[in-house]
Amino acid sequence: MAKSSTIDKINQSHSASRSVLKVVNSSKTVEGGGFIVHRAFPTHFLSDIDPFLLLDEMGPADYKPGEAVGAPDHPHRGFETVTYMLEGKFRHKDSHGHSGKLGPGDIQWMTAASGVIHSEMPDDEIIQNGGKIHGFQLWVNLPKRDKMVRPRYQEIPGSKIPVGKSADGKVIARVIAGQALGSSAVIETKTPIMYVHFTLQPKSEINQPVPANYNAFAYVVNGEGVFGSNSKVVTRGQVVVFSSEGNLISIKNQSHSILDLLLIAGVPLNEPVVRYGPFVMNEPHEIQQAIEDYRSGRMGQIDF
Ligand code: CO
Repeated sequence: MAKSSTIDKINQSHSASRSVLKVVNSSKTVEGGGFIVHRAFPTHFLSDIDPFLLLDEMGPADYKPGEAVGAPDHPHRGFETVTYMLEGKFRHKDSHGHSGKLGPGDIQWMTAASGVIHSEMPDDEIIQNGGKIHGFQLWVNLPKRDKMVRPRYQEIPGSKIPVGKSADGKVIARVIAGQALGSSAVIETKTPIMYVHFTLQPKSEINQPVPANYNAFAYVVNGEGVFGSNSKVVTRGQVVVFSSEGNLISIKNQSHSILDLLLIAGVPLNEPVVRYGPFVMNEPHEIQQAIEDYRSGRMGQIDF
């Protein structure tokens, strides 16, 4: 006993819990056609968190028959889109001939890179009969060296997403990227990324190691948590941005309900960012090129 407590003390002396830099509200917007989105960023309060460009919570919404809408054919170049469904089903198609359905728990990690035309629509059944849609889309920027590589898709069904569990069984981690609670992700990332969906039962806590060179933030999906060394209380729909000092992130659920959150972190690229809608490059002339390539059909089309 004496020995292990000495080791614990040594370990603690090498770890420091990060503080919360700021807490910002997501902004509820209705995208073209009536698609309900809670945008974590970019908003007036928070532009980006290098290397992350955008986080949208799709819904939660309960659409009536004929009401559900999505994003028909649109381009992407220069970054990755990561779609994670919690409820409902989306059908996706793209100009490289890929198509499929994403249901609850499923992940699509799409490295758009040199360019794709993408279509993301609710499943026909939800469009016809109505239903719930709840999910997330994260945009991960690519380093200059990877912006024009061939597009790549990683589609992982929910059943194949590694799940970690705390010793007391009260905290569950669905590990989409990186590592948590003894489980490692199956998805490969271009730069080091951590993307973990944590579920904390009432009266539980987690101290998640996050490498010191990662930028980190969390998004509260449900419930209320106490975050960081300065114990900030954060509730559903809010974004928590952590300081860059320290290599642990502490999260406590002191409430009587379940706390659900996404913890997302990555090594910043520290490269110039020029963004124009669905194109994110390093230089203005590369945006011009992207627009020309899109208009002239060089990103392909969806013809099936
Ligand atoms: Co898209």
